[in-house]
Amino acid sequence: MARPSPRSYCSEHQGETNMPSTVLITGCSSGFGLASAKLFLARGWNVVATMRSPQPHLLDEKDRLLVTALDVTNPSSIAAAIERGIARFGQIDVIVNNAGIGWFGAAEATPDEAVRQVFETNTFGVIATTQAIIPHLRERGSGTIVNVTSSVGIAPMPLVAAYTASKFAIEGFSESLAYELGSLGIRVKIVQPGFAPTTNFASNFRGNMSDLIPAAYADFAGRYLASMQNEPTAYTTGDDVAAAVYAAATSKDDRLRYPAGPDSVMLAELRRALPEEAFMARIRTMVGASSPPMHS
Ligand SMILES: NC(=O)c1ccc[n+]([C@@H]2O[C@H](COP(=O)([O-])OP(=O)(O)OC[C@H]3O[C@@H](n4cnc5c(N)ncnc54)[C@H](OP(=O)(O)O)[C@@H]3O)[C@@H](O)[C@H]2O)c1
Repeated sequence: MARPSPRSYCSEHQGETNMPSTVLITGCSSGFGLASAKLFLARGWNVVATMRSPQPHLLDEKDRLLVTALDVTNPSSIAAAIERGIARFGQIDVIVNNAGIGWFGAAEATPDEAVRQVFETNTFGVIATTQAIIPHLRERGSGTIVNVTSSVGIAPMPLVAAYTASKFAIEGFSESLAYELGSLGIRVKIVQPGFAPTTNFASNFRGNMSDLIPAAYADFAGRYLASMQNEPTAYTTGDDVAAAVYAAATSKDDRLRYPAGPDSVMLAELRRALPEEAFMARIRTMVGASSPPMHS
């Protein structure tokens, strides 16, 4: 599957005007957030790179960079980071809600506490950060909110039900918001990355999973995980996601969703092309899942 280049997205370059535009990105300590911060800096933007624990050495720029603390589960930390960004650069034009955590395991074995933790970060954290930036964008009558969901927002995958639910919530939130904020001059975009085995995301959730696959699921989980190893070159990279985030941030059109990475683009095409039953049959084959027997 061909990788979409940044040019394959219809985008306009906001950052090439005389006054650099400013982007605030959550979760810049690694993965897609860090890759996106680097791309915006390379394209001449001011970047407010936020992290739970600021690590300025990760990014190589002085004048157009502010590395500052932001924990999306802490409303006062969100407000303070936005204030610091505005104090430093005068305004924020784009916010990228990228911070997120994964969780892998059978739904029945996923502890309530884990479900809540996933929602606190991936859903409530995004909603709180969005609510905090809207008044600033609304006063200026412009700006773009980019929410990073996942290809599971296109094609839910097994054994990540809580994670999928947290991202589906943001798919709906964003689509609703796109209507609500459009007349105020604010754009809303969704970037849907495919699976990227190289960020911390996969290693973080891999640590949890052995306890969360009860014996009854072991064969299926084994087939599913083996199927994910089959075509490693078709997975998503940080550069794929940074390019999609940048395209979404600089777009002047009404496009809402940006699948990022070859696996996500392929799933979006399948979803568009096939009726639901045929689509789900394809996913079952892909992941080694079976339908319930006809008699039950
Ligand atoms: N990698 C994938 O396969 C994949 C696929 C689809 C979608 N995504 C989504 O893409 C986004 C980025 O993931 P990634 O792959 O780049 O993973 P990553 O390398 O683990 O990066 C996640 C970032 O989120 C930050 N974060 C976690 N909890 C936070 C909180 N409460 N407040 C602020 N920041 C927090 C992490 O910071 P710390 O260093 O402080 O933990 C880290 O900077 C996530 O929303 C994820 O759900 C990932």
